[in-house]
Amino acid sequence: MQLNTKLNASITAVGGYVPEHRLLNKNLEQIVDTNDEWIQSRTGIKERRILKDPSKATSFLAIQASKNLISKNNIDPLTIDMVIVATTTPDMQIAATAAYVASEIGSYNAFGYDLQAACSGFLFAMSMASGKIESGRYKKVLVVGADKMSSVIDYKDRSTCILFGDGAGAVLFESNNEGLGWQDEYFKSNGDGRESLNVKAGGSLFPATSTTISNRDHYLRQDGRKVFKTAVSAMSDASSTILKRNNLVGEDIDYLVAHQANERIIESIAKRMSLKPSKVLKNIAKYGNTTAATIPLLLYDFQNKFKRGNKIIFAAFGGGFTWGAAYYIWSK
Ligand code: COA
Repeated sequence: MQLNTKLNASITAVGGYVPEHRLLNKNLEQIVDTNDEWIQSRTGIKERRILKDPSKATSFLAIQASKNLISKNNIDPLTIDMVIVATTTPDMQIAATAAYVASEIGSYNAFGYDLQAACSGFLFAMSMASGKIESGRYKKVLVVGADKMSSVIDYKDRSTCILFGDGAGAVLFESNNEGLGWQDEYFKSNGDGRESLNVKAGGSLFPATSTTISNRDHYLRQDGRKVFKTAVSAMSDASSTILKRNNLVGEDIDYLVAHQANERIIESIAKRMSLKPSKVLKNIAKYGNTTAATIPLLLYDFQNKFKRGNKIIFAAFGGGFTWGAAYYIWSK
């Protein structure tokens, strides 16, 4: 076999974790004016997982997913060079959650930082990891997507509380010299979108005050219809650009691994890419939208489906707005 001199970055291990507590649509019927039929038909969600223990935060989810990856794949945590945690619900301001995760999993030789790009966070973090591997300076980069969304959800707001859940997934990137792994990416952002999807308070623009608390400004708010429309067109455009740029058509693709925000969004993108339903991976019914964790949790749930050489399109859209698509060839 001809070996490439160029290093590609490829995923060599996958891990995942969701908390035990299941919040069902019928439980939400008791809290807000909604019903199971509405939620399932408008979103595809049946249940989501919630981290109930108030003493546990996003780092707990990230650590469980990372430990799962490490133990299942027999990896020495001391060989990990770098840990990126994509999250929009870090444990604390200022102290990087990734630094804590790296220490807690025993990766004492690694450095870690967080990446915040809302629901696109994991996609962007995979790109960061790939660049580090391709540089040749780092051998093993752990990328975690983790969010305790229940910490920023207003369980009095029926338009958002039905959508989100807690969870984490992790992948390990290493080099590949057969041309497999990360191939291409097309990423975008548009700051006009921040009015349409945000947690307004708690940052430097609106630090916590008694007014921000009484206004419930520390919870996620969104213009659902606008986000829906923009997500469909942005993810479809990014995926088409990636296909064209790599001389691919829908038929060439084995799997679409797209951010799980709403089943109708995923199906619209798949239709625009002319993908058969069997190629579109979904687990939104079980977990809802876990923000930075949706893509790695898909990889975790469907890892036994993937075969070496499978062509995968990743696509995501999130707050900011941020969005993009990437082309990846499975290497395991
Ligand atoms: N149960 C019952 N009715 C609900 C409801 C709920 N949980 N939430 C909203 N409604 C009502 C609305 O009040 C509205 O009633 P009205 O017509 O009397 O005003 C009606 O349902 C339709 O609301 P609309 O917002 O148009 O519904 P929709 O079909 O757009 O679905 C979302 C709402 C939030 C599910 C959908 O817009 C969505 O998924 N948006 C994208 C969200 C997202 O992905 N966010 C994260 C980005 S990564």
